Amino acid sequence: MKSNIALVSVVACIAINAAFAISNISLAQDSPANSLKPAASFQSIADQQQRSVAIFEEAGKVIQHPRCVNCHPATDRPLQSMSMHPHQPPVTRGEAGMGVPGMMCNTCHGPENVKVVAQAETIKSIPGNANWHLAPIEMAWQGKSLGEICNQIKDPQRNGGMSLEKLIEHMAHDDLVGWGWHPGEGREPVPGTQAEFGELIRTWVETGAACPS
Ligand code: HEC
Ligand code: HEC
Repeated sequence: MKSNIALVSVVACIAINAAFAISNISLAQDSPANSLKPAASFQSIADQQQRSVAIFEEAGKVIQHPRCVNCHPATDRPLQSMSMHPHQPPVTRGEAGMGVPGMMCNTCHGPENVKVVAQAETIKSIPGNANWHLAPIEMAWQGKSLGEICNQIKDPQRNGGMSLEKLIEHMAHDDLVGWGWHPGEGREPVPGTQAEFGELIRTWVETGAACPS
């Protein structure tokens, strides 16, 4: 009798493991690199803190994308392209991240992306936005782990004095953040949509804004 129970539980374990393996595979298929899993799809994670961390990790596909990190560098020089090489020509943040006289960001970066025709094979467009300037050094993300970035963006000392409510608003609606989904020809956009991303951040906050370790 005892051994029968043991057998049944072994069989049950195998069945559960198999079910897990299958659901993991289908989850992985749901989320190719250029899309985001919807916030609601994390409801199956019962533990709230684990759910919060998993949601932030999904949002991390945007946050750690070169489109964002290139403008949140660890030095005074922005980065460029998927390889995140130092900005060419050399430019530096200057006052308020706008560049230095003669090399202001808006000398080259206009209010919109501009297509480059027949100048350089490698550059298809110059990115643009009316607010184009470098993120302050305390908001540097380059070289940091997702957990470090997570703690940093929650910290009003380092996030420009934002409450979590303001942070949701910034992620969901800020125009400069939104540029990541419309980066101009020749540049890979960040995954998903800004609305989906905003929803992930909102759900992350609602589940306690837990950070990956
Ligand atoms: C002399 C012109 C010029 C100036 C001045 C300039 N940039 Fe650029 N920047 C460019 C060009 C051209 C590109 C596109 C290069 C490419 O796509 O390979 C670019 C690309 C970038 C990118 C990369 C976008 C991406 O994700 O690949 C960032 C970030 C950037 N610039 C930030 C800045 C900031 C911030 C300033 C001011 C401190 C600035 N730039 C000043 C010409 C300039
Ligand atoms: C052209 C440069 C640029 C790009 C590209 C950019 N940012 Fe920023 N980011 C800034 C600047 C500048 C600030 C400071 C606040 C402001 O002036 O808007 C900032 C601030 C932030 C903040 C608030 C403070 C903090 O803790 O960092 C968040 C969050 C943020 N950006 C997210 C993003 C995300 C997500 C992306 C990519 C989808 C992105 N940014 C792309 C320049 C940029």
